[in-house]
Amino acid sequence: VNPVESKLIDMHEQTAELYNHFLMNTDYGQHALDYLHKRGLTDDTIKFYKLGFAPSNRILSTFLKNKGFDYQSMRKSGLFLESDDGELRDRFFNRIMYPIKNEVGSIVGFSGRVLDKSESQAKYLNSPETEIFNKRKILFNFSDAKNAIRKEKTVILFEGFMDVISAYQSGVENGIASMGTSLTREQVHTINRITKKLYVCYDGDAPGQNAINRALSLLGNTKLELGVIQMPKGVDPDEYRKQNGEEKFAEYMKSALESPLSFKMRYLKLNRNLDNENDQLTYINDVLKEIAKLPQPLERDIYVNQLAEQFNVSKLDLTNQMNKFIQRDD
Ligand code: CTP
Ligand code: MN
Ligand code: MN
Ligand code: MN
Ligand code: MN
Repeated sequence: VNPVESKLIDMHEQTAELYNHFLMNTDYGQHALDYLHKRGLTDDTIKFYKLGFAPSNRILSTFLKNKGFDYQSMRKSGLFLESDDGELRDRFFNRIMYPIKNEVGSIVGFSGRVLDKSESQAKYLNSPETEIFNKRKILFNFSDAKNAIRKEKTVILFEGFMDVISAYQSGVENGIASMGTSLTREQVHTINRITKKLYVCYDGDAPGQNAINRALSLLGNTKLELGVIQMPKGVDPDEYRKQNGEEKFAEYMKSALESPLSFKMRYLKLNRNLDNENDQLTYINDVLKEIAKLPQPLERDIYVNQLAEQFNVSKLDLTNQMNKFIQRDD
């Protein structure tokens, strides 16, 4: 870490302290704190993640100036918007602040959430790319989850901040988030370095399901052992915890685990009418193509069996058809 980077990190650490202070100890943050309590977060959880509140009266530039930070560093931090005359104004205001740490646990960026649903503003506003913040590389909670990931020999990949935080509050500490539905190669690389097993637990809505499908094809190019923790329809992990409590959440993480192929079989059924013969035929062919990708003959056999029973067709025909789809390397 060079001096410029360490100054930027210092600025972020102090900013997180300030936002956290506003949330926990001031009238400015009361509304935001009540909001987080209403969502079921405990003060311990809020403190652990050093969640904060950026008030509407923009205070950050004055605060950091008084702390001795120079104008150029503040410009580069991404914490401000610059007006034409070079004046720096707080980028984040009237938002709940989620500090984002790099791999070694230093705060390098923020995401700010609006308190009230509003169509005019994006729900989350993120730090821009800076010398210390590269969103493609960062996984939320990675540094804090490392030990648990090693212990469990598994990482659980969520979409969002609140999903990871809900998991943590439920005692599931090996969760990280891609911070959205587009998992990047860089993030996969980071995951690959610390574990051999990954479970994807994205939201139970359509974007979440599409994203699982995309993530699985990206992850299929790695040696990671994969699983999917399927959320109930329309529910995200945080909502599940809110509705059912921490204990049920932790149980669900174990009981709702399925293989990538089971996910794929369900996914391929979406938007298809399997009573229609044409749809049925394309579906069976699509599934056979997926089965053909499985490395073990026994595994392939089990799934072909399932498919034959499900559609009441000949297992031999399915096997022959599936064998045509197997890619030979030789
Ligand atoms: N996200 C983002 N910018 C947005 C929307 C989403 O960066 N405009 C990222 C955030 O990291 C968010 C994640 O994508 O946590 C998942 O998005 P979504 O499911 O829409 O939000 P939730 O995490 O469910 O947020 P909340 O429960 O607070 O509504
Ligand atoms: Mn309260
Ligand atoms: Mn989502
Ligand atoms: Mn969500
Ligand atoms: Mn949510």
